[in-house]
Amino acid sequence: MTRPRIIGFSANIQRPSKTRHLVEAIADGASSRVPAEVRVFDILDAGPGLGSAWTRDALSLPARRMVEAIEEADALVVGSPVYKGAYTGLFKHLFDFVDPGALANRPVAIAATGGGTRHALVVEHAFRPLLGFFGALAVPTAVYASDADFRDGAVADEGVLRRIDDAAGQLAALLARGIQAQVRPQGLMAAGAAR
Ligand SMILES: Cc1cc2nc3c(=O)[nH]c(=O)nc-3n(C[C@H](O)[C@H](O)[C@H](O)COP(=O)(O)O)c2cc1C
Repeated sequence: MTRPRIIGFSANIQRPSKTRHLVEAIADGASSRVPAEVRVFDILDAGPGLGSAWTRDALSLPARRMVEAIEEADALVVGSPVYKGAYTGLFKHLFDFVDPGALANRPVAIAATGGGTRHALVVEHAFRPLLGFFGALAVPTAVYASDADFRDGAVADEGVLRRIDDAAGQLAALLARGIQAQVRPQGLMAAGAAR
């Protein structure tokens, strides 16, 4: 059986990036519990021209591959820096290309970073409704971190570290259940055939 794929998408437009760091930490935490292939993308990976592409056909090859990777992931970790109180415009722009049915029942962990704590609830009032539109299974613990939570580019705050661990555990649990659901029908059929 091929290993499940956890795809991270972070809407940072600079590197190093605090948002990308959170996304990677959650994805790595999940894959340490359920063996999985992890791949993380950001806006820089999409190359120039993402903002001027108005249709899927107009996307550059790297950007189209990113959308396809999101659609085909077994689990997702999505993150964005907070810009003007919400996820960035390019974060939403990328998700506008994702097929509306592609993420149904897909486990998703949410991450965001901001300069301060004023917009910490962005994970609840912006990300969750978007994932609700897609029918995705957003994990209960969303992770927000502000500048003060980082030291030398890594998360230093105990509370944020705990939330990363919680979100990773929840994502792994949903991913494992999805894998079992794929295996179980054959098991039930085999049990039925034996009767
Ligand atoms: C255009 C712009 C708008 C921003 N708006 C907010 C904001 O509304 N609230 C906030 O807390 N931080 C805001 N910030 C700060 C970034 O969210 C913060 O620096 C973030 O952690 C950067 O993430 P990155 O390291 O992944 O790029 C803004 C930054 C920029 C460039």
